[in-house]
Amino acid sequence: MLERIGPDNPTISRPAPGIEERIASLLEQAPDAAVAEIGVGIGATTQAIAKTMKGRGKLHIFDFQDSVDELKADLNGLGFFNVVAHGNTRRHWDSYHWSLAKLLDAMRCPIFDYAYLDGSHLLLHDLPAFVILDKLVKPGGFIEFDDYGWKFENSTWMKATRHEYITDEHAAVPNIKMLVDLFVKGNPNYRMVTTNRLFQRL
Ligand SMILES: C[S@@+](CC[C@H](N)C(=O)[O-])C[C@H]1O[C@@H](n2cnc3c(N)ncnc32)[C@H](O)[C@@H]1O
Repeated sequence: MLERIGPDNPTISRPAPGIEERIASLLEQAPDAAVAEIGVGIGATTQAIAKTMKGRGKLHIFDFQDSVDELKADLNGLGFFNVVAHGNTRRHWDSYHWSLAKLLDAMRCPIFDYAYLDGSHLLLHDLPAFVILDKLVKPGGFIEFDDYGWKFENSTWMKATRHEYITDEHAAVPNIKMLVDLFVKGNPNYRMVTTNRLFQRL
Protein backbone atom coordinates (compact mmCIF):
# COMPACT_ATOMS: atom_id res chain seq x y z
CA MET A 1 0.00 0.00 0.00
CA LEU A 2 2.77 2.45 0.95
CA GLU A 3 4.07 2.29 -2.64
CA ARG A 4 0.97 4.30 -3.65
CA ILE A 5 2.23 7.35 -1.74
CA GLY A 6 3.28 9.89 -4.35
CA PRO A 7 2.07 12.24 -7.08
CA ASP A 8 -0.63 9.82 -8.32
CA ASN A 9 -2.47 10.27 -5.00
CA PRO A 10 -1.81 13.90 -4.10
CA THR A 11 -4.61 14.40 -1.56
CA ILE A 12 -3.67 11.46 0.68
CA SER A 13 0.11 11.30 0.28
CA ARG A 14 1.10 13.84 2.93
CA PRO A 15 1.06 13.03 6.66
CA ALA A 16 -1.19 15.15 8.86
CA PRO A 17 0.78 18.38 9.42
CA GLY A 18 2.77 18.34 12.65
CA ILE A 19 1.70 14.84 13.67
CA GLU A 20 5.29 13.60 14.08
CA GLU A 21 6.02 16.39 16.57
CA ARG A 22 2.85 15.68 18.52
CA ILE A 23 3.53 11.95 18.70
CA ALA A 24 7.22 12.50 19.59
CA SER A 25 6.23 14.80 22.43
CA LEU A 26 3.65 12.27 23.62
CA LEU A 27 6.26 9.49 23.65
CA GLU A 28 8.60 11.61 25.73
CA GLN A 29 5.94 11.61 28.45
CA ALA A 30 4.70 8.06 27.87
CA PRO A 31 7.13 5.77 25.99
CA ASP A 32 4.53 2.97 25.88
CA ALA A 33 1.77 5.25 24.52
CA ALA A 34 -1.13 3.80 22.56
CA VAL A 35 -2.01 5.76 19.41
CA ALA A 36 -5.04 5.21 17.16
CA GLU A 37 -5.54 6.31 13.58
CA ILE A 38 -9.11 5.94 12.34
CA GLY A 39 -9.07 5.99 8.55
CA VAL A 40 -5.64 5.24 7.11
CA GLY A 41 -5.94 6.14 3.41
CA ILE A 42 -2.76 4.78 1.81
CA GLY A 43 -0.77 5.02 5.01
CA ALA A 44 0.93 8.41 4.68
CA THR A 45 0.15 9.49 8.24
CA THR A 46 0.37 5.95 9.61
CA GLN A 47 3.89 5.58 8.24
CA ALA A 48 4.93 8.93 9.72
CA ILE A 49 3.51 7.93 13.12
CA ALA A 50 5.13 4.48 12.96
CA LYS A 51 8.54 6.01 12.13
CA THR A 52 8.15 8.40 15.06
CA MET A 53 7.11 5.62 17.44
CA LYS A 54 10.05 3.39 16.31
CA GLY A 55 8.31 0.27 17.54
CA ARG A 56 7.46 1.73 20.94
CA GLY A 57 3.96 1.55 22.37
CA LYS A 58 1.08 0.40 20.18
CA LEU A 59 -0.29 1.84 16.94
CA HIS A 60 -3.94 0.84 16.38
CA ILE A 61 -5.21 1.32 12.83
CA PHE A 62 -8.89 1.26 11.78
CA ASP A 63 -10.20 1.00 8.23
CA PHE A 64 -11.54 -1.61 5.81
CA GLN A 65 -10.07 -5.06 6.54
CA ASP A 66 -8.06 -5.36 3.32
CA SER A 67 -6.56 -1.89 3.87
CA VAL A 68 -5.45 -2.45 7.45
CA ASP A 69 -4.08 -5.92 6.62
CA GLU A 70 -2.01 -4.58 3.73
CA LEU A 71 -0.77 -1.59 5.68
CA LYS A 72 0.16 -3.67 8.71
CA ALA A 73 2.15 -6.03 6.45
CA ASP A 74 3.94 -3.05 4.85
CA LEU A 75 4.81 -1.61 8.27
CA ASN A 76 6.01 -5.01 9.47
CA GLY A 77 8.24 -5.02 6.37
CA LEU A 78 9.75 -1.74 7.55
CA GLY A 79 10.49 -3.33 10.93
CA PHE A 80 7.53 -1.91 12.87
CA PHE A 81 5.78 -4.71 14.76
CA ASN A 82 3.72 -2.60 17.18
CA VAL A 83 0.75 -2.24 14.80
CA VAL A 84 -2.70 -3.55 15.79
CA ALA A 85 -5.12 -3.79 12.84
CA HIS A 86 -8.87 -3.33 13.31
CA GLY A 87 -10.70 -4.00 10.06
CA ASN A 88 -14.33 -3.86 9.05
CA THR A 89 -16.25 -5.08 6.01
CA ARG A 90 -17.53 -2.91 3.16
CA ARG A 91 -21.18 -3.60 3.99
CA HIS A 92 -23.22 -0.39 4.07
CA TRP A 93 -23.83 -0.15 7.79
CA ASP A 94 -20.40 -1.39 8.83
CA SER A 95 -17.55 0.94 9.74
CA TYR A 96 -14.77 1.62 12.20
CA HIS A 97 -17.39 2.62 14.76
CA TRP A 98 -18.17 -1.09 15.16
CA SER A 99 -14.49 -2.00 15.60
CA LEU A 100 -14.18 0.76 18.20
CA ALA A 101 -17.31 -0.45 20.01
CA LYS A 102 -15.97 -4.01 20.11
CA LEU A 103 -12.66 -2.72 21.48
CA LEU A 104 -14.42 -0.73 24.20
CA ASP A 105 -16.56 -3.75 25.05
CA ALA A 106 -13.41 -5.88 25.42
CA MET A 107 -11.35 -3.31 27.35
CA ARG A 108 -14.00 -1.46 29.42
CA CYS A 109 -11.48 1.31 30.20
CA PRO A 110 -9.58 4.09 28.40
CA ILE A 111 -6.52 2.79 26.52
CA PHE A 112 -5.55 5.47 23.98
CA ASP A 113 -3.19 8.38 24.60
CA TYR A 114 -3.88 9.85 21.17
CA ALA A 115 -6.57 9.25 18.55
CA TYR A 116 -6.58 10.73 15.05
CA LEU A 117 -10.05 10.63 13.50
CA ASP A 118 -9.78 10.89 9.71
CA GLY A 119 -12.32 8.49 8.26
CA SER A 120 -15.51 8.99 6.26
CA HIS A 121 -16.21 12.55 7.44
CA LEU A 122 -19.84 11.52 7.82
CA LEU A 123 -21.71 12.14 11.04
CA LEU A 124 -23.22 8.67 10.56
CA HIS A 125 -19.87 7.00 11.27
CA ASP A 126 -17.89 9.72 13.01
CA LEU A 127 -20.35 10.70 15.73
CA PRO A 128 -20.50 7.14 17.15
CA ALA A 129 -16.73 6.95 16.65
CA PHE A 130 -16.32 10.08 18.78
CA VAL A 131 -18.75 8.87 21.45
CA ILE A 132 -16.74 5.64 21.76
CA LEU A 133 -13.36 7.40 21.55
CA ASP A 134 -14.55 9.62 24.39
CA LYS A 135 -14.48 6.46 26.51
CA LEU A 136 -11.32 4.98 24.97
CA VAL A 137 -9.09 8.07 25.24
CA LYS A 138 -7.42 8.47 28.62
CA PRO A 139 -7.89 11.64 30.67
CA GLY A 140 -5.01 13.85 29.57
CA GLY A 141 -4.99 12.16 26.15
CA PHE A 142 -5.85 13.77 22.82
CA ILE A 143 -8.34 13.50 19.96
CA GLU A 144 -7.39 15.11 16.67
CA PHE A 145 -10.05 15.71 14.00
CA ASP A 146 -9.05 16.17 10.38
CA ASP A 147 -10.98 18.16 7.79
CA TYR A 148 -13.19 20.41 9.92
CA GLY A 149 -14.42 22.18 6.79
CA TRP A 150 -14.62 19.25 4.34
CA LYS A 151 -17.99 18.64 2.69
CA PHE A 152 -19.23 16.16 0.12
CA GLU A 153 -20.52 18.95 -2.10
CA ASN A 154 -16.94 20.02 -2.94
CA SER A 155 -15.62 16.51 -3.46
CA THR A 156 -15.56 14.28 -6.55
CA TRP A 157 -15.78 11.19 -4.30
CA MET A 158 -18.86 9.12 -5.21
CA LYS A 159 -20.17 12.03 -7.26
CA ALA A 160 -22.09 9.81 -9.70
CA THR A 161 -23.86 7.75 -7.04
CA ARG A 162 -23.92 10.16 -4.11
CA HIS A 163 -27.61 11.04 -4.52
CA GLU A 164 -28.47 7.46 -3.48
CA TYR A 165 -26.87 8.01 -0.08
CA ILE A 166 -27.05 11.66 0.90
CA THR A 167 -29.28 14.67 0.28
CA ASP A 168 -27.92 17.82 -1.34
CA GLU A 169 -28.67 19.67 1.89
CA HIS A 170 -26.53 17.22 3.90
CA ALA A 171 -23.75 17.22 1.29
CA ALA A 172 -23.49 21.00 1.67
CA VAL A 173 -22.74 20.76 5.41
CA PRO A 174 -19.24 19.93 6.71
CA ASN A 175 -20.03 16.96 8.97
CA ILE A 176 -16.85 17.18 11.06
CA LYS A 177 -17.62 20.84 11.77
CA MET A 178 -21.06 19.79 12.96
CA LEU A 179 -19.55 17.06 15.17
CA VAL A 180 -16.89 19.33 16.66
CA ASP A 181 -19.23 22.32 17.11
CA LEU A 182 -22.07 20.37 18.68
CA PHE A 183 -20.26 17.73 20.72
CA VAL A 184 -16.65 18.74 21.42
CA LYS A 185 -16.25 22.53 21.54
CA GLY A 186 -17.63 23.83 24.80
CA ASN A 187 -17.76 20.29 26.19
CA PRO A 188 -16.43 20.60 29.76
CA ASN A 189 -14.52 17.31 29.29
CA TYR A 190 -12.35 18.80 26.53
CA ARG A 191 -9.79 21.57 26.16
CA MET A 192 -9.25 22.90 22.64
CA VAL A 193 -5.50 22.83 21.93
CA THR A 194 -5.55 23.73 18.22
CA THR A 195 -8.58 25.52 16.82
CA ASN A 196 -11.20 23.04 15.62
CA ARG A 197 -8.63 20.24 15.35
CA LEU A 198 -6.82 19.05 18.45
CA PHE A 199 -8.61 18.52 21.77
CA GLN A 200 -7.33 17.26 25.09
CA ARG A 201 -9.54 14.95 27.16
CA LEU A 202 -9.68 16.42 30.67
C1 LIG B 1 -8.98 10.63 4.10
S1 LIG B 1 -8.63 8.94 4.18
C2 LIG B 1 -7.54 8.83 5.56
C3 LIG B 1 -6.19 9.45 5.32
C4 LIG B 1 -5.18 9.13 6.38
N1 LIG B 1 -5.64 9.39 7.72
C5 LIG B 1 -3.91 9.94 6.16
O1 LIG B 1 -3.72 10.94 6.86
O2 LIG B 1 -3.13 9.59 5.27
C6 LIG B 1 -10.13 8.31 4.83
C7 LIG B 1 -10.12 6.81 5.14
O3 LIG B 1 -11.34 6.49 5.79
C8 LIG B 1 -11.69 5.18 5.41
N2 LIG B 1 -13.12 4.94 5.55
C9 LIG B 1 -14.15 5.69 5.05
N3 LIG B 1 -15.32 5.10 5.32
C10 LIG B 1 -15.04 3.97 6.02
C11 LIG B 1 -15.83 2.91 6.58
N4 LIG B 1 -17.16 2.91 6.46
N5 LIG B 1 -15.19 1.91 7.22
C12 LIG B 1 -13.84 1.90 7.33
N6 LIG B 1 -13.03 2.86 6.81
C13 LIG B 1 -13.63 3.86 6.17
C14 LIG B 1 -11.29 5.11 3.94
O4 LIG B 1 -11.12 3.77 3.54
C15 LIG B 1 -10.01 5.91 3.91
O5 LIG B 1 -8.90 5.07 4.04
